[in-house]
Amino acid sequence: MQTIDSISQLRSYLWKAKLEHKVIAFVPTMGNLHEGHLQLIDRALEEADLVVASIFVNPLQFGPGEDFNGYPRTFIADQEKLMSRGCHVLFAPSVEEMYPATNISSTVVKVPHLDQLLCGASRPGHFTGVATVVSKLFGIVQPDVAIFGLKDFQQFLVIKQFTNDLCLPVKIIGAPIARAESGLALSSRNGYLSAIELDQAAHLYRCLIECRLALESGQKTFDKLAEHAQCQLESVGFTRDYFKICRQDDLQPATSDDTHLVIVAAAYLGKARLIDNIRLTLTP
Ligand code: PAF
Repeated sequence: MQTIDSISQLRSYLWKAKLEHKVIAFVPTMGNLHEGHLQLIDRALEEADLVVASIFVNPLQFGPGEDFNGYPRTFIADQEKLMSRGCHVLFAPSVEEMYPATNISSTVVKVPHLDQLLCGASRPGHFTGVATVVSKLFGIVQPDVAIFGLKDFQQFLVIKQFTNDLCLPVKIIGAPIARAESGLALSSRNGYLSAIELDQAAHLYRCLIECRLALESGQKTFDKLAEHAQCQLESVGFTRDYFKICRQDDLQPATSDDTHLVIVAAAYLGKARLIDNIRLTLTP
């Protein structure tokens, strides 16, 4: 596996692959890789001849007081994991390489109808930071396909939306959520949890499943179901952020006529803010 930290070197490396008409798949990450990330690499290898992963902790998507400085950086271990999983190229730029001169991006990519909701309401500016860095990375790597985990479902929709709106020739693929045996969605931020909190954290998925069962059994009182889940989460030690039943395509609150639903949740536990979701289709 080649590790490259400069945009120009990466471009020259990929130029040859493009001349040979190789299909390039891209897996952007912020590092601290777990099995969920590595499953994205597996999926990328199924899709393409050449797999490029990136590790870049993007300052633009962290708000003031968030964990940018403390975000776990485990570069050597990440490099080994990517190599042993068969990744071909690791792009690992510095902040200066990605945001030269001022360290901030003067041009930003904003997806207004999706970026103010849910995680966007709790983390103002977050999705503009994500959309901006991902579109820069798309411009640098120029992949045919890019793979994102569906745990960050709102992020996935934001990326699909700007890719489509800006006519970028990249196929966006969502990969299933990787879970621990307890059901807890794998996340780099799970590392902030103590052993006791890790047990408590599994309740987030249990509440989502309980809510899905209620919806599948025909319950339509969405607000009541969500409030019940929030109270259950609080009773096991979470602090609430949101728990909502939404439409899958635009994350607007679902109505009783909607059939393609996603139950989305975010809650604080100890030092971590955890997110998770379940998608479901109801038969009308
Ligand atoms: O999901 C992530 O790890 C990040 O938001 C991403 C897509 C790599 C952009 O920094």
